[in-house]
Amino acid sequence: MPFYITTPIYYVNARPHLGHAYTTIVADVVRRYHQMRAEEVFFLTGTDEHGDKVVRAAQKEGLEPRPYVDRISQLFRDLWPDLNVIPDHFIRTTDPDHMEVVRRVLQKIYAAGDIYYSEYEGLYCFGCERFYTERELVEGKCPDHRTEPEVIREANYFFRMSRYQGWLIDHIQTHPDFIRPERYRNEVLAFLREPLGDLCISRPKSRLTWGITLPFDERYVTYVWFDALLNYVSALGYPDGGRFHTFWPAAQHIVAKDILKPHGIYWPCMLKAAGIPVYRHLNVHGYWNVEQGKMSKSIGNVVEPLQMKDRYGLDAFRFFLVREMTFGLDSNFSEAALVQRLNADLANDLGNLFSRVVSMTHKYFGGVVPEVAPEMARQFGLGLGPEALRTVAEYEQALEGFELQKAMAVVWEFIGRMNKAVDVAVPWELAKKKATLRQLEAVMSSLLKGLRLISGLIYPVMPDTAGRMQKHLGLDPAASFYLLEELKKWQPVPAGTRLPKAVMLFPRIETTPAEAETASPPKAAAAALKPEINIEDFGRIDLRVATVVKAEAVPKARKLLKLEIDMGERRTIVAGIAEHYAPESLIGRQLIVVANLKPAKLMGILSQGMLLAAGEDAGPVLIMPDKTVRPGTALR
Ligand code: MSP
Repeated sequence: MPFYITTPIYYVNARPHLGHAYTTIVADVVRRYHQMRAEEVFFLTGTDEHGDKVVRAAQKEGLEPRPYVDRISQLFRDLWPDLNVIPDHFIRTTDPDHMEVVRRVLQKIYAAGDIYYSEYEGLYCFGCERFYTERELVEGKCPDHRTEPEVIREANYFFRMSRYQGWLIDHIQTHPDFIRPERYRNEVLAFLREPLGDLCISRPKSRLTWGITLPFDERYVTYVWFDALLNYVSALGYPDGGRFHTFWPAAQHIVAKDILKPHGIYWPCMLKAAGIPVYRHLNVHGYWNVEQGKMSKSIGNVVEPLQMKDRYGLDAFRFFLVREMTFGLDSNFSEAALVQRLNADLANDLGNLFSRVVSMTHKYFGGVVPEVAPEMARQFGLGLGPEALRTVAEYEQALEGFELQKAMAVVWEFIGRMNKAVDVAVPWELAKKKATLRQLEAVMSSLLKGLRLISGLIYPVMPDTAGRMQKHLGLDPAASFYLLEELKKWQPVPAGTRLPKAVMLFPRIETTPAEAETASPPKAAAAALKPEINIEDFGRIDLRVATVVKAEAVPKARKLLKLEIDMGERRTIVAGIAEHYAPESLIGRQLIVVANLKPAKLMGILSQGMLLAAGEDAGPVLIMPDKTVRPGTALR
């Protein structure tokens, strides 16, 4: 089966930043995942180079548009390999082939009568390169640029988009996951409840020459969105290219919420008018916010992605972006959050498990994977098999549905299960007696099998780490290893394999108090202290470590999450953290619970304890142990 994935083509009016990196890394993760399914994949990214935004950016640098766009486009092109992102094609809207396709499609729609000429007066934002209706403005200003639009009167060409409104509503309703997640589908449907106007698709050359000349009127260039959206088909060689026939029926786009409207409304209408079938899915993600504000070029609040990757490693950076953001919702980016994930999920949960298991194989078997009789494997194999298959099934389901963070949470649940299995099986005790040697072999073989599976499942997000793990499991990192079909076979690392010495996959980052301070925003003065208590008073509070097993929103309660926790025993806790933590982000996490607090009912659910959190003004910040500990462990 073919699979086609695209990112937006990025404007070349600014250097690449974290937001661009996120979308493109997500596309690369999805590409690698579909390759694991043995699908034929085509992954497209590129740059959007026409329009007055770009002209103004070039002028600012004292350059003509051409050398300017060449330079910035190259920055994007060069960034991707550094992020281990491997597109199959990098398109530029200044490519002659693309420009030709735009002219062809315009001519086709014009000939069909869906493009007409008319006089228009409207409120125009130069930053957005588009007209706004009064209704769309916020206090009379452009919602993005916060500037007042100018009144412009001119004759232009219009695309009869209004004609396709009924068809589009019907298409969205009959294809519930056409636009996903659902909140964005609802947003588009809400927009379509109002009459859809026609779209102005030209700009007079008196105002702008840097664009594609209309094929039916030399005096105009094409509106930048009508030009840009067509990249998705021109890159495949529309209309006659073989790639177009193979990949277009499987097209999926990834965009952030800022460009939902052009992709959810203009683009399907354009495709319909041009007689091209519509794409399969539009996958829409939220925004990375840096220090509370929207991160964009115009506001100038930018985190250089490469700085983070150079500091903490590329795989840790990719993992953080994928794991931290719930696809569809906004997320906050901070170095402190990245370090926390790196220490907890990578250095601790995965890294320790890996080095523990490999070192024990060296210690007990001289680094050679032991042979295990099937009967012994069944009896002492830690029961990981069914768990592994369930993990793969949930992982696939999450990735198909673009719930990337969940796919990672599922893998980490399995890692947690394996860490627990090591603690329960106590291999170091089994190694003490001859009588338990067979059992030890079965345990170690099963743990190595689990690591093998994990190395495959993390591949799309952390390809380098996957390769390193495989090398240290003595496996041949040949492509076939990554195939999901192979992973589902739950194969052991072959007996007799000689393992290289254990490595540390991720070094722990020690944060100095000074760094920890700069990582968090300045605080208001601390609240006055409560009256002194003695040790007995404190001793009456039973604080325990608990692992989150399940987390879900509480219907009709904006602030509440219902958590199922493992505290040695299972409990339910209702916590007022829904506005600050996505349920998926908590699964597998360890938290601190006040375990002997009198249970209370919240929204009809009995909450058996309370979570500890720092009461920041910006919202609660959950307290988590520094290392994974046995659930139920008491705090002293
Ligand atoms: N050129 C248009 C897209 C045309 S596609 C036919 C454009 N370019 S852009 O450079 O502004 O890129 C917007 C995209 O960059 C977003 O949709 C998203 O993919 C990514 N991001 C830019 N800033 C972002 C964040 N702060 N957070 C997450 N992604 C964001 O729009």
